[in-house]
Amino acid sequence: MIRVQDMQFSYTKEPFIENMNFDVQNGEIFGFLGPSGAGKSTLQKILTGLLTTYRGSVQVNGIEIKHRGNSFYENIGVDFEFPSLYEKLTARENLNFFASLYKKHQAIDPLLDSVGLLHDAGKKVSDFSKGMKSRLNFIKALLHDPALLFLDEPTSGLDPSNAKRMKDIILQEKAKGKTILLTTHNMYDATELCSRVAFIVDGKLRALDTPRALIMSRGAARVRYTYAVNGREEQKEITLDRTGEDDVLQKLVQENRLLSIHSSEPTLNDIFVELTGRLLQ
Ligand SMILES: Nc1ncnc2c1ncn2[C@@H]1O[C@H](COP(=O)(O)OP(=O)(O)OP(=O)(O)O)[C@@H](O)[C@H]1O
Ligand SMILES: [Mg+2]
Repeated sequence: MIRVQDMQFSYTKEPFIENMNFDVQNGEIFGFLGPSGAGKSTLQKILTGLLTTYRGSVQVNGIEIKHRGNSFYENIGVDFEFPSLYEKLTARENLNFFASLYKKHQAIDPLLDSVGLLHDAGKKVSDFSKGMKSRLNFIKALLHDPALLFLDEPTSGLDPSNAKRMKDIILQEKAKGKTILLTTHNMYDATELCSRVAFIVDGKLRALDTPRALIMSRGAARVRYTYAVNGREEQKEITLDRTGEDDVLQKLVQENRLLSIHSSEPTLNDIFVELTGRLLQ
């Protein structure tokens, strides 16, 4: 679906994005995870044909994005970081207007309903909260039911229930066979949603794999348990894949003598820090 080869880009004379190479497969949710200023939105702008002064090759659906025609936008949906909506129009008027730019589009009310905005459809966007605007901007990207979706921080600034609603829609779109490029600095979103995650720092790709493989790259999850011996509390730590061979643990389980047991595995954040030396937030 997308092929990036030896791509370089900079806003200034200093190099910024360098040695960028990756492929995005049909039907996957591909995530860019990185701290603020890493270049995630810049990458999205290049992949959607808004920044064309890159070097190397960026192909989307087999077309070098620099040479895209106008019909390119019939097949992609873009939810940029900052909502672009007409403030003086209502939510429904906004969607009707943007829908009219496409050859075909989906019914508008079910889309509004899917993000909980049906009751506010007649309100002017200037009276919308930040979260309402970002939900509206999100469904704007879905209007023409595109096969390829670019979502830039779709859950940022949303309360947990609305963030969950957006994540469910993203997963539904994937289930319909859509390919989705998502940027985030939220490791939970990346772990939950992404088929594969690219770690981006200072315009460079530092790692690329499934969230599970990245997490497991630091070794197996660990189990820590405590128990009493002669009135004193003892603690032992083993790896999760060795619990069956730990005689002490087996005996404690059989005799119901465990005082506590915890398992812990590294998070994507731990792996990010380890591989890049940088914090996500
Ligand atoms: N139009 C522009 N002109 C010059 N520099 C820019 C421009 N847009 C972004 N930059 C710079 O490029 C770098 C990457 O910005 P970008 O918006 O891609 O980061 P990001 O990873 O999306 O960050 P965030 O998580 O804060 O959204 C930053 O240093 C930023 O200042
Ligand atoms: Mg950004």
